[in-house]
Amino acid sequence: MDRAHVTVVEHPLVQHKLTLMRKVETSTNNFRRLLNELSALLAYEVLRDMPMHEVTIQTPLETMQSGLIDGKKLCLVSILRAGSGILDGFLSVVPGARVGHIGLYRDPETLQAVEYYFKMPPDMGGRDVIAVDPMLATGHSAVAAISRIKETNPRSIKFVCLLAAPEGIETLQNAHPDVPIFTAAIDRCLNDHGYILPGLGDAGDRIFGTK
Ligand code: URA
Repeated sequence: MDRAHVTVVEHPLVQHKLTLMRKVETSTNNFRRLLNELSALLAYEVLRDMPMHEVTIQTPLETMQSGLIDGKKLCLVSILRAGSGILDGFLSVVPGARVGHIGLYRDPETLQAVEYYFKMPPDMGGRDVIAVDPMLATGHSAVAAISRIKETNPRSIKFVCLLAAPEGIETLQNAHPDVPIFTAAIDRCLNDHGYILPGLGDAGDRIFGTK
């Protein structure tokens, strides 16, 4: 199967906010706000091909047919815990979307992703899923999350992150070549601890002010 596309959203507003988020001195407060704003801008690109339907409306002057998004078919899936930062930004532009959560942790012995939480809306069969996680690092949790989401038979799946490492893109594309990836940047590589370089640090810690 051909690999689905990787889209780097290069809009100046996205890149500007990403630069501010990378800076070590950016506060938790500002980091969270910037992630929210940036995610809404990513959503604009990711949702470009959203299915729509026509409705009849009345303007002050006449009746017309006009388009609306099939918002209820959309399911945003947040990969816990850092995914919630992107989720909020997406919900600010598609408030009608359904939301699922998947929680994974890395087993320190096997380094494999272990699921501890999985809750999806009903009727996943017809839905278009957008799985969100700020950092596509090794790609292991993205692969595990998408494998699990696929068990619910959604109509389509996209993966959205803020930063991707080449290693993570390779791993995700090998496992799920049908899933397009959207990111604000592709960074250089991973360090020995699985952090993206130059990156922005631990996304969860920076969103929630933990260490
Ligand atoms: N997860 C993070 O939060 N940051 C990284 O650099 C890699 C994985």
